[in-house]
Amino acid sequence: MENFRTHLQFLLYFLLFLHSLPFSYAKCTDTEREALLAFKTGLTDPSGRLSSWRGDDCCKWAGVKCSSNQTVTHLDLKNPYPQANGGIIDQTAYKASCLAGNISSSLLRLPSLSYLDMSLNDFQGNEIPAFLGQLNDLTYLNLSFSSFGGEIPPQLGNLSKLQVLDLYADSYGGTAAAELRADDLNWLTRLASLNRLNMGFVRINTSNGGDWLHAVSMLPSLVELKLQYCQLQVLPQSLPLGTNFPSLSVLDLSDNSFNAPIPQWLFNLTGLRELYLRWNFLHGPVPSEFARLKSLEILDLSNNLDFGGQIPGLFGSLRKLKVLDLSANDMNGGIQEFISGFAGSPSSSLIFLDLSSNSLEGQLPDLLGVVLHNLQHLDLSSNRFWGSIPNSVGEKMSSLKHLDISYNNMNGSIPDSFGQLSALIDVNLVENSWVGVLKETHMVNLRSLENFKLTTDSSNHSLIFNVPVKWVPPFKLKSIQLENCIVGPSFPAWLQVQNQLTSVTLRNVGISDTIPGEWFSNLPSELTFLVLSSNQITGKLPSQQLKFPRLSTIDLSSNKFEGPLPMWSTNASILYLQDNKFSGPIPRDIGTLMPRLRNLHLSDNTLNGTIPLSICKMADLQVLSLRNNYLSGELPDCWRDLSTSSLWVVDVSNNSLSGEIPSSMGLLRSLGMLLLSENNLVGEIPSSLQNCSALTSIDLGENQLSGEIPSWLAENLSATFVLRLRSNQFHGQIPEALCNLPLLHFLDLSHNNLSGGIPKCLDNLTAIVYGNSSELYYQETKVVTKGRAYDYNRNLALLNVIDFSENNLSGPIPEEMTKLLSLRVLNLSSNHISGAIPEKIGDLKVLETLDLSHNQLSGEIPATLSSLTFLTHLIVSYNNFSGKIPAGRQLQTFDASSYQGNPFLCGFPSRVKCPTESITTTAPPTTGTEPEDEEDEIFELGTGLYVSIVLGFGFGFLGLCVTLLRKEFRKKDIEW
Ligand SMILES: *[C@@H]1O[C@H](CO)[C@@H](O)[C@H](O)[C@H]1NC(C)=O
Ligand SMILES: *[C@@H]1O[C@H](CO)[C@@H](O)[C@H](O)[C@H]1NC(C)=O
Ligand SMILES: *[C@@H]1O[C@H](CO)[C@@H](O)[C@H](O)[C@H]1NC(C)=O
Repeated sequence: MENFRTHLQFLLYFLLFLHSLPFSYAKCTDTEREALLAFKTGLTDPSGRLSSWRGDDCCKWAGVKCSSNQTVTHLDLKNPYPQANGGIIDQTAYKASCLAGNISSSLLRLPSLSYLDMSLNDFQGNEIPAFLGQLNDLTYLNLSFSSFGGEIPPQLGNLSKLQVLDLYADSYGGTAAAELRADDLNWLTRLASLNRLNMGFVRINTSNGGDWLHAVSMLPSLVELKLQYCQLQVLPQSLPLGTNFPSLSVLDLSDNSFNAPIPQWLFNLTGLRELYLRWNFLHGPVPSEFARLKSLEILDLSNNLDFGGQIPGLFGSLRKLKVLDLSANDMNGGIQEFISGFAGSPSSSLIFLDLSSNSLEGQLPDLLGVVLHNLQHLDLSSNRFWGSIPNSVGEKMSSLKHLDISYNNMNGSIPDSFGQLSALIDVNLVENSWVGVLKETHMVNLRSLENFKLTTDSSNHSLIFNVPVKWVPPFKLKSIQLENCIVGPSFPAWLQVQNQLTSVTLRNVGISDTIPGEWFSNLPSELTFLVLSSNQITGKLPSQQLKFPRLSTIDLSSNKFEGPLPMWSTNASILYLQDNKFSGPIPRDIGTLMPRLRNLHLSDNTLNGTIPLSICKMADLQVLSLRNNYLSGELPDCWRDLSTSSLWVVDVSNNSLSGEIPSSMGLLRSLGMLLLSENNLVGEIPSSLQNCSALTSIDLGENQLSGEIPSWLAENLSATFVLRLRSNQFHGQIPEALCNLPLLHFLDLSHNNLSGGIPKCLDNLTAIVYGNSSELYYQETKVVTKGRAYDYNRNLALLNVIDFSENNLSGPIPEEMTKLLSLRVLNLSSNHISGAIPEKIGDLKVLETLDLSHNQLSGEIPATLSSLTFLTHLIVSYNNFSGKIPAGRQLQTFDASSYQGNPFLCGFPSRVKCPTESITTTAPPTTGTEPEDEEDEIFELGTGLYVSIVLGFGFGFLGLCVTLLRKEFRKKDIEW
């Protein structure tokens, strides 16, 4: 009994004890619960993240935490959607899990709230509620990535206990218009406890540009300060008197517009561990004072363009430095001194080094691998390094995972030791001039390799891949890119056992083998990118639709594939099959089999049959190139289906197409290039084409088109810079309106039945008067064609051309034509043009070809012609010229036949003797080919022209890319 009482007593005590424990049965107060429910009511919650918010005890609700006395202290409603690599994977899924709506002031009824995290939600540009400034106990406030907009309420300055304030205002596809602003930062100075402040992407727009530094320098406890992309302009060169940042450890001022040297006060922040100054306009040399920042672990000075000079050796003295990014600056000279700086003392801790996109040069020092042997990431791309990869890289850098030496002048070899890099995952060696032989030993231990890129100049095949036929590589590649080296002649067997490939490029690698049918039908299902162009691969591809579900880019161009055109998966978007021996028809259902095609290049094959109507089912089509085949029948009249598409190149030149140009082509609003030459098209130019206001290039030459040249051409198509109507049956006059095409610089109306005079207004063709836009496009080709399938082989700068030859034009050569100062080719031959050559013809300083033959021109040949030093083709034969051929070197270099048929013309090189001289029988050596052969060579419009315009477009696109890239880079933090 006694025993029992004791037990009972014990039990009682125990229950009392439990009672005293707050978590056992106690719950949050009704006031707090109701406050939270009111808060919930203000929000929208599409994914039901707050569905647990019911029942009595709000301390158990998702995201709510209470202190031991059951008052709510934490509210963590951060969007849990997973983030990867600084981004999100699925925009829609992310947005679905965002909270939105209003933040209710009922939060004020949670007086002990110390932690509030609303990050990664979407408040659609709403302002940050000012009442948050009354949550006196707040120590942590995170509103980042939440699409708040408007002015930050200065009331936040009342949060005197606040330690962390995160207002980072970028968004993941949240409301784009939201812009968070701070026009005044005085409120900030009152946050005396603040140790972490992130105002990235907030537009800080204080009245005095440098005020931001004054405000933050008042925060004595700051450990972390992030002001990236705040549109700051002024970087003060001194700190306000008496202030410093005694505890600052992380400083991020990247992505602003600072146009200044790096200020000295930074080097007093000796506790700094991380310093980010990328994407500004900082300039000057690298200050030697960096050596004072002994605690630095991460230093990012990339993308400051004018920041540069030699890289000093001081970085080696920063023994804690793990990450150094100096990319995209103006660093020049060698890297000897920089590397030597790391020698001598204990092991360097550097694991990430990016020196890409500078003007560094010289050989890579052998010390590189020795002193930086802990590197995991080494990027030396886009510099001017030359020579070989030092042995030490392979021998010592056993942690190296990413190596990029692309876009340099490396003209040496890759050492055997390279094969020791067993941690290597990515290697990029493209665009160099590697020489030597790559053997098994070069890859013997590359167990981790996933991505391998190596290309050399297209001019030499000086790198040879020589591995045994039965070689089994130690790696499982995801992507491989080999260009302009020698891998062939047989199709590499080792590639056929790689079964995780997603991207394969073997361009111009000397394979002259039959495509291994087995490999082809067993290609890994993950494959998205397949380029085998510019080899001599033979064989037929299976004629049934090929099933590589993800394959989207296919380039088999410039090979010897034969047989019927293969059809690819429904996901194919880029298909280059040009320059092969494919034959037979284009499958009727091509458009339904491959509905996502954007680029369809089938030119230079032997395809026959008609152009299938289903082409118009490809709603994404941008480039349709069918030139140089044997296609017949009429052009399909289905273009209405593509009227909203981005189709901008239609090239069906050099086929056997007949019938009229369908008027539905005029519905192609994006059409930039219409190339229909060398067919049998008849009828007039459809007037609907005047709606294609984006047309830059019109080539209808060598058909049987008729009617007058419509003057709407000039009135509505002001973007046109190439107009080629050669060899048709156009009649009537040359419309004066053509003179109003400001960009026109290639005008070929030859071989028609045009009559009347040459328009006087040609001097309005400003593109030919003031230098030429084509020169510009020519420049850009170098940038944009890199790695593209286009074959560029013509000097586009030649294309300032006027050709009116073989018509019935009469009247004089207008004086105004001598104002076309950039004209390079003028052909007026075989007309009935009369009068004299204008004296000022000598103003056409860059003229290369002048053909006036077979006309009724008379008078003397102007002496000014002899000053045209570029003139290589002059033909004035069969006119009524008279007098002496002007002396001076130029006009004497042409063959006598250039002048024949002018009975009153005399003097060398003509055979007719002027009254005072004797006949020369030995003509000086002529330059180049016979004049008669020239015409076709010069006027044949090949791929070159086509490319110029393609690239003209490309340039604008490039600009866009750069902008996007910049944004992308900004978000991408350094990973290692
Ligand atoms: C409960 O705890 C919080 C924080 O721990 C404190 O601010 C508050 O005053 C306490 N309330 C009561 C009633 O003890
Ligand atoms: C750096 O700190 C020292 C000592 O506190 C001070 O005298 C000097 O003015 C500071 N330099 C700059 C540029 O702020
Ligand atoms: C296409 O060419 C093939 C021979 O390659 C020929 O047999 C066939 O009749 C041609 N078809 C057409 C429509 O011309």
